[in-house]
Amino acid sequence: MSETKSLPKKYSKIQKDLVEILIPGQRIQRRIQALAREIRKDFPTEPLHLVSVLKGGVFFLTDLARSISGEVSFDFIAVSSYGKNTKSSGQVRLTRDLDSSIEGKTVIVVEDILDTGMTLQYLLRIFQQRKPKHLRVAVLLDKPERRITAVQADYVGFTIPNEFVVGYGLDYAERYRNLPYVGVLRLASEAKKAKAEE
Ligand code: PRP
Repeated sequence: MSETKSLPKKYSKIQKDLVEILIPGQRIQRRIQALAREIRKDFPTEPLHLVSVLKGGVFFLTDLARSISGEVSFDFIAVSSYGKNTKSSGQVRLTRDLDSSIEGKTVIVVEDILDTGMTLQYLLRIFQQRKPKHLRVAVLLDKPERRITAVQADYVGFTIPNEFVVGYGLDYAERYRNLPYVGVLRLASEAKKAKAEE
């Protein structure tokens, strides 16, 4: 029997790395539909302007936008954070601004993950200055154990443990964003190291 065939169903083998499926794609889609209904219920008649943060938030934005009934528009912003480890020093910087003004609009910030909260804290600060009518936050994943700021999301898809997750927009060195599910990455190099230490 090959190694791949003997793997439990919750694992995907991608080249030499293993991804342990944490949230299957179908569950993500069902949850997004529920979030879309919740958002629309809160703003039954308002045109909604979704603002996503490149690149990770893109898949969540496109699925969420297609699930919300009524008028929806969207825009993108990009920030640079000098790598995860330096985020705690507050080094979030705008690298691509929105195309259009958000003044007077009902804005939903759409993020794939809320981790330390540094990115969101920065974005909420600059968006608030632009006088939207309403400003809300939707995140697919919330990792509260890592939080170092006071920010919170209004709409949360899933609360997850402090594991390194990939898929559905989340990457490891730009890889794995395209996975339709969210999984915990078990790098081949780590697996080998663990085996050697046994
Ligand atoms: C991820 C994610 C959020 C941010 C959250 O982006 O998309 O924007 O980190 O982390 P925080 O709560 O600790 O600020 P990343 O910087 O990995 O860029 P990417 O979306 O291009 O992958």
